[in-house]
Amino acid sequence: MNVLLLGASGRIGQRTVTELLNRGHAVTGTSRSGAGNGIDDDEFVAVSGDATNPDDIARLATGHDAVVSVLGPSDDEPAEILTGMISAVIDGLRRADVDRLVWTGGAGGLRVGPETLLIDTDDFPEEWEPVARAAIEAYDILTEADDLEWTYVAPAALIEPGERTGSYRTAERELVTDEEGDSYISMEDFAIALVDELEENNAVHTYLGTGY
Ligand SMILES: NC(=O)c1ccc[n+]([C@@H]2O[C@H](COP(=O)([O-])OP(=O)(O)OC[C@H]3O[C@@H](n4cnc5c(N)ncnc54)[C@H](OP(=O)(O)O)[C@@H]3O)[C@@H](O)[C@H]2O)c1
Repeated sequence: MNVLLLGASGRIGQRTVTELLNRGHAVTGTSRSGAGNGIDDDEFVAVSGDATNPDDIARLATGHDAVVSVLGPSDDEPAEILTGMISAVIDGLRRADVDRLVWTGGAGGLRVGPETLLIDTDDFPEEWEPVARAAIEAYDILTEADDLEWTYVAPAALIEPGERTGSYRTAERELVTDEEGDSYISMEDFAIALVDELEENNAVHTYLGTGY
C-alpha cells in the first residue's frame, strides 16, 4: 500500500515507519519538521506539512491508498490542537479522495466498567487529563465522518518504547489489561496493531483498545 503517515518523526511514528516498511508498504512520512530520522529506504520519503492545515493534508494525501496518524500535540501547544488536527485531516482526506484513516487516539475514553471511562477513575493522572479530554473530543469529531473508513486505535493506559513481541490484544471501546490488571503496550507492538488494522480493516468505525 502507498501510505501517508502523519507524525512519522514522533516516538510511535518512527516505529510505525519501520513496521510499515518491513511489511512492504511505501511510506510518505510527514511532520512539521519533515525529519526523516535517518531512515534510508527507497520506499520512504519524509516531507514537511502542518496537520492543522487542510490544504497541506489534501496535498500530501493525494495519490495515497490510506492515511495513518500518529500525531500528537507538542509540549508547547495546548492539547486542544488535536481537535484542529482531526478536523483538518478529515477535510483534507475528503478533498484528496482518500477514504481510509487509521488514527492513533487515547486510552482515556475507554471503558473500565459498564459506566466508567478510564479518564474518570480516581487514579487517572491529572497531568494527562487535558490531552485525554482532547483525544475524546477528537473521537467525537471522527464519529461524524462516517463517509470515511476510519478506525480510532488507542494505546493501553501506558505505552513506552520497548520490545516488539508480536503479540497484543484488542477490545472494542474497552481498556485492555493483563492478568495483573495492568494496561500496557510497547510502542513497537502498538505499531503492529496500527498496521494490522490498516491491512485487515477489522475494526472500521470502531474505537479500539490495545494491550497485552
Ligand atoms: N495512553 C495513551 O492514550 C497515549 C499515550 C501516549 C501517546 N498517545 C497518543 O499517541 C500519539 C502519538 O504519541 P507520540 O508519543 O508518538 O507523540 P510525539 O513523539 O510527540 O510525536 C508527535 C508527532 O506529531 C508531529 N506533529 C505535531 N504537531 C504537528 C502538526 N501541527 N503538523 C504535523 N505534524 C505534527 C510531530 O512532529 P513535528 O513536531 O515536527 O511536527 C511528531 O512527528 C498522540 O496522539 C498521543 O496522544 C496516547
